[in-house]
Parts: sequence; C-alpha cells; structure tokens
Amino acid sequence: MDADHVPSEITEILITDEQLQRRLAEVAAQVDADYAGRDLLLVGVLKGATIVVADFMRHLKSHVTVDWMAVSSYGSGTQSSGVVRILKDLDTDLEGRNVLVVEDILDTGLTLSWLLSNLKSRGAESVEVFTLLRKPEALRIPVEPKYVGFDIPNVFVVGYGLDYAERYRNLRQVGVLDPRVYGG
Ligand code: PRP
Repeated sequence: MDADHVPSEITEILITDEQLQRRLAEVAAQVDADYAGRDLLLVGVLKGATIVVADFMRHLKSHVTVDWMAVSSYGSGTQSSGVVRILKDLDTDLEGRNVLVVEDILDTGLTLSWLLSNLKSRGAESVEVFTLLRKPEALRIPVEPKYVGFDIPNVFVVGYGLDYAERYRNLRQVGVLDPRVYGG
C-alpha cells in the first residue's frame, strides 16, 4: 500500500520507500564491515520490525542468521510502562553470539532498555541495537543504539511495519497519521 492509496489518513510522508532502502543499504554496509569475520545473529522484535529485518538482511553481503522475539509492554493506551512480558522467546542459545537487535522504532526506550538487559544476561559475546527510527524527544531511558536509520520528530508515525490498531504495517512509506484516525 502507498500513502496515496489512503490520502485522507496520512497527512505527510516522512520517509519515502527509496530513502528507506538507501539508508538500509548504508547501514548494512557498515554492519558488514563492523562484523567482518564474526558470526552475526539478528534478533527482530515482532511485529513492527518484520519489514525492516526482511529488507535489511537482504542488503547484507555476509552470512547472517535471524531469530525473533515478541514482547508486550504493560501500559495504558499508547503509553508503555516499562514492564515487559515475553510473548515469544528466542529459539537460539545466545552463549558466545554476536547479537544485533533490530527494532522499527525507539520511542521512550522502555522496551529496548528491558530487552537489552534481558539479552545481555544470556551470555552473548555482544549485544547491539539497530533501530530504523528514533524519536530523540521522546526518550525517557538512555538507550544507545549502535545504528540508527533516521531521527524523527515526536509525531505519530505509521507504515513500514509500524501500526495503528494493527493497520498500516503494509504501507511502503513512513507517514504521519492524521489525528482524525485515532480521535486525537
Ligand atoms: C513498538 C516498537 C518498539 C516499542 C518502542 O512496539 O516496535 O518495540 O514500541 O516503544 P518504547 O521505546 O516506548 O518502548 P509495539 O509495542 O507497538 O508492538 P508492535 O511492534 O507489535 O507494533
């Protein structure tokens, strides 16, 4: 789906399909160089990161393996509380592995902060983060991703894996959702 298929719902395209792919290729080249000669396990965080992982891993020129985690953060409405529950755990033993957590968005940092300490306790050689999007103004807990795709303003974005009420994940672009859609 493209933003112009739902023109009354997306007020602005923040990042185009082409910009997304160009940046993913740049980050992939950096990751290829940084992990040269080392094994790399990508950990995608469901569901938002599915599209990023699928595109990003195809830009990599080295071997890579991938696993998935699903977490849910307790909280009211759109606010996460920092209390995280594992809905689906990894199938992979992290002992001695180089892990790169792939996220669609770093917002308050509550999810990633919890996830990183959880993964680091499993004996990995290294645990780093690639987040496609980061909202610097929303960050409440310091999380320092090794790789960031784009810094964006603190607006409600959807598309390229990010949802509102489970919709818009299949939008090719990252766009700003019209507040009328969520009653804002
Ligand atoms: C989103 C996103 C991150 C988290 C970021 O997931 O994928 O995991 O929120 O927010 P935070 O920095 O404030 O913790 P969400 O809970 O919406 O689930 P989803 O990926 O299934 O859409």
